Amino acid sequence: MIKKEQIYEGKGKKLFATDDEWTLIAEFKDDLTAFNAQKKAQEKGKGALNAAISAKLFALIKQNGVETHLIKRLDETNHLIKKTRIIPIEVVARNIATGSLSKRLGIKEGTELDFTLVEFYYKNDDLGDPIINDEHVVLMKLASEDELKTLKTLARKINDILRPFFRSVNLNLVDFKVEFGRDQNGQILLADEISPDSCRFWDLTSGEKLDKDRFRQDLGGVKLAYEEVLKRIEGALK
Ligand code: TMP
Ligand code: ASP
Repeated sequence: MIKKEQIYEGKGKKLFATDDEWTLIAEFKDDLTAFNAQKKAQEKGKGALNAAISAKLFALIKQNGVETHLIKRLDETNHLIKKTRIIPIEVVARNIATGSLSKRLGIKEGTELDFTLVEFYYKNDDLGDPIINDEHVVLMKLASEDELKTLKTLARKINDILRPFFRSVNLNLVDFKVEFGRDQNGQILLADEISPDSCRFWDLTSGEKLDKDRFRQDLGGVKLAYEEVLKRIEGALK
C-alpha cells in the first residue's frame, strides 16, 4: 500500500491517503496535548507506544465481536485503517469517578460507580468538547436514534471486554474515551485509538496512575508509564 498525501492532522495522529480510496494510513505522533491543546509537549517514542497499545487492544476487541477500522499495524507508528466518516461524538465510559465527572458533579474521586456511566461529548475544539445528552445528539443530527443506541451498546461492550482484561494485568480501567466512524456501507466501526492518551489506568495494588494524567498533572514519568502499560498488555496477549 502506498502512503500518499496527508489528508488530516489531529492532535495525536496524521491521516494519509493510499492508492485505495477506502483505505487510509494513520500515523501516531509524539505530541502530547491536554486541556484542548492549551498544554503541549513532545515525548519521543510516545507515538510508537500508542500505536502498539492501540493495535493490541483493537485486535482483542475485534476477537470479542466489535468491528474496528484497523486493518493492520504497518510499522512502529503507522496503522493501515478502513476509511470512515467519524461521528463527531466522544463517547466516554466511566467505572470510577474522577476527572471532569468529579469536578462537575462533586462525586468523590475514586468512588466506584454503581454501573458503567456512558457520556457523550460533542467533538468540537472551538467549543471545548462540551458534554451533551441524547436529545442534543439527535437534535444536531450527529447520529440517528438507532446509531445512538449502538454507540452506547458498543461502549459498554468494549468496557466489558477491556475491564476484566486490564484487571488481569493488575490495572484498574477507570474510564476511557472512544470514537466511532461510519464505513462506506454505513456500518459503525470503532475508530481513532485506545491508548493511555484516551484512558485512565490505575495500578490495582499501588493506585499509581499509568496514563496521560501523568502529563496533565505534571507527575513526570509519562513515557515510563506508557511503556509499563504496553509491557503488561504484551505479557497477557502473546
Ligand atoms: P474527563 O474526566 O477529563 O472527562 O476524561 C474522561 C476520559 O476521557 C479519560 O479517560 C480521558 C479521556 N479523554 C480523552 O480521551 N480526550 C479528551 O479530550 C478528554 C477531555 C478526555
Ligand atoms: N485530548 C484533549 C487535548 O489534547 C484533552 C485531554 O485529553 O486532556 O487537548
